[in-house]
Amino acid sequence: MVVTSTKDIEWAARILRRGGLIAFPTETVYGLGAHALLPEAVRAIFKAKGRPSDNPLIVHIGRREDVSRIARDVPESALRLMNAFWPGPLSIVLPRRWDVPDVVTGGRDTVAIRMPDHPVALRLLQVADVPVAAPSANRSGAPSPTTSQAVLEDLGDRIDGVLEGGVPRVGLESTVVDCTGIQPVVLRHGGIPLEELRLVEPDIRVATTAELGAGRSPGARHVHYRPRARVWIVTPGDAAQGGMPPGSAWIGQSEPADRGYGLTPWAKIEVVPDVETYARRIFAFFRECDREGIAHIHCENVQPGGLGEALMDRLRRAAGDDSIPGYTGP
Ligand code: TXA
Ligand code: MG
Repeated sequence: MVVTSTKDIEWAARILRRGGLIAFPTETVYGLGAHALLPEAVRAIFKAKGRPSDNPLIVHIGRREDVSRIARDVPESALRLMNAFWPGPLSIVLPRRWDVPDVVTGGRDTVAIRMPDHPVALRLLQVADVPVAAPSANRSGAPSPTTSQAVLEDLGDRIDGVLEGGVPRVGLESTVVDCTGIQPVVLRHGGIPLEELRLVEPDIRVATTAELGAGRSPGARHVHYRPRARVWIVTPGDAAQGGMPPGSAWIGQSEPADRGYGLTPWAKIEVVPDVETYARRIFAFFRECDREGIAHIHCENVQPGGLGEALMDRLRRAAGDDSIPGYTGP
């Protein structure tokens, strides 16, 4: 059931406290929440999503002070990042307290924590007054949901409710930063670009592919964000654009090149004004294409830097390739 009123937030908070599953809006994507300190409740998240159990969850809090309910130590770097970016699309990995169940952390001695910047999420977390573990509210592997309708499509019959909160302002997941070492390390690009993090933590660095492969960011190993359609990443003006079968889709900052054979291959074209809009639209666009039975989606690449890093990361995963910067395909 989709619920919208303030009274509903109180209902949803009660369900969470009792161990139920509630999907809720955040500024990044919709999350699927459960009481983070109840192992049975958290296990139900994995079951509903079909999520591999070695992929740990982000714990969401409604007040800065709640960090100490979950983390046993908060380094200076983490404090500076929280002060600069919370509430907001930044998840911080910290040493965990031992009362955080293993099912949340995948058995690690660290836990990812985030305070989301969305009025409905904050109100829900504050009223529930418990830490809430929440991955994106999609079936495992599918594009993250950026509408309550997408949540219902994927999980409608498996959860207790969805809070309505409109379309998230960011559209891509939070940036994940590990603050457990001497130097903060970006494990996942997301809503807060590296350049902004650097203004606060000048020596922050991005995890290497080798580190990610070695399991430092468990989520990086799994299939993610993929629509049923085949996703292709193209550079502007790429000649291969013309080779697409009729009925393909295009999304990018420029118009697709005309194939010149008189027959346009494009069943669906979306030209976005900037990278922010591209990011906000991409997961919904994937889902719309699947609903319309489109088999091929062309995504124009964007300049490196800023939110472009997170967007390109999601596009590469959707295309099923982590290594090829330009055109990808079979
Ligand atoms: O924006 C977001 O982060 C959304 C909304 C709902 O908050 N949530 C989200 O959760 O994207 P999920 O489960 O789809 O992604 C969580 C990411 C994964 O890449 C996971 O590996 C990483 O965070 N993560 C969680 N706990 C970790 C830990 N202790 N150490 C390293 N990485 C961790
Ligand atoms: Mg996810």
